Amino acid sequence: MRAVFGTRPWRAPTDTPAVISVSNFKGGVGKSTVALHLAQHFAIHGYRVLFIDCDSQASSTMMFGYRPDVDLSEDDTLYGHFHNPELLGVRSIIRKTHFFGLDLIPANLKLYNLEYEIAGYLAQNQNFDIIDLIAEAIDTVVDDYDVVVMDPPPALGMVSMAVLQAANAMVIPVPPSVIDFASTVSFIDMARTTMKQLEQIAGRVKPAYNFIRLVGSRVDESKSMHREILSMMRQVFGGSMATSVLKTSAEIDNASSRMKTVFELDRPVTSHEVHNRCMKHLSDVCKEIETDVLRTWASRAGEAV
Ligand SMILES: Nc1ncnc2c1ncn2[C@@H]1O[C@H](COP(=O)(O)OP(=O)(O)OP(=O)(O)O)[C@@H](O)[C@H]1O
Ligand SMILES: [Mg+2]
Repeated sequence: MRAVFGTRPWRAPTDTPAVISVSNFKGGVGKSTVALHLAQHFAIHGYRVLFIDCDSQASSTMMFGYRPDVDLSEDDTLYGHFHNPELLGVRSIIRKTHFFGLDLIPANLKLYNLEYEIAGYLAQNQNFDIIDLIAEAIDTVVDDYDVVVMDPPPALGMVSMAVLQAANAMVIPVPPSVIDFASTVSFIDMARTTMKQLEQIAGRVKPAYNFIRLVGSRVDESKSMHREILSMMRQVFGGSMATSVLKTSAEIDNASSRMKTVFELDRPVTSHEVHNRCMKHLSDVCKEIETDVLRTWASRAGEAV
């Protein structure tokens, strides 16, 4: 219908596609939850989206209906592509999904081998170009998309570095606990240092991110500690912190135990009230990030969602 009525929100060919990494080396902070809902939000609103599961735990791949180590071989993931780029090509590992406009590069456990292989390659060849392997893979197909969303593993390993190198925007979910906050600050610090080292040692210039958006995740505003830490986070991160937060919701847990996102539920698993509240939090966070993306497109500059 959007095609017929001329209301497709696609970027102009001259606009740079958004390549978003949903990163934090802390586990369980809601990276995959944010990445999946974000990708689906863009697809629902008519954008062309590629989701790349870069985590060998493959939890996002499961949410697309696959049993990663049964239904998929290593050749179906980024790992296969890097072993045999000429034979396969990245286009051949992109799959259509049950979501219109949302394509997937899946992951499975074999992807973990990439960590060793990149490290081994670096030690042997002293050639840092290998860190561009995900960037190069995306480059070959990105013209077909408006938004690429990457779900990296919870570590600052080789694959995560390659993801940070490939991204031109970053979304960082942070639960408002002292430990998660401290670990996020270290993550940002380490990522910055590593990028700088790559620049100094290997003479590589990484363009600045178009935006970095920190999102309060798993927030329970009935806890005074959460409210306090959230307000401290707003002071520390300033305008980089999203205004909306993702609250802890039984609906997210219930949906994920049914292998669905909240956007995919036919009806509330909890009550209508809880469901609607959760939908609102998720949509508000996604809309803020959509506005960030539109700001980077000259053809849509200044549009708010
Ligand atoms: N706002 C929320 N409310 C309730 N449950 C949540 C919320 N966010 C995430 N969860 C649940 O917490 C678990 C971990 O979340 P998720 O998988 O998104 O984290 P992650 O950062 O990707 O973890 P990992 O580091 O292992 O990849 C999941 O079961 C998810 O359903
Ligand atoms: Mg995850």
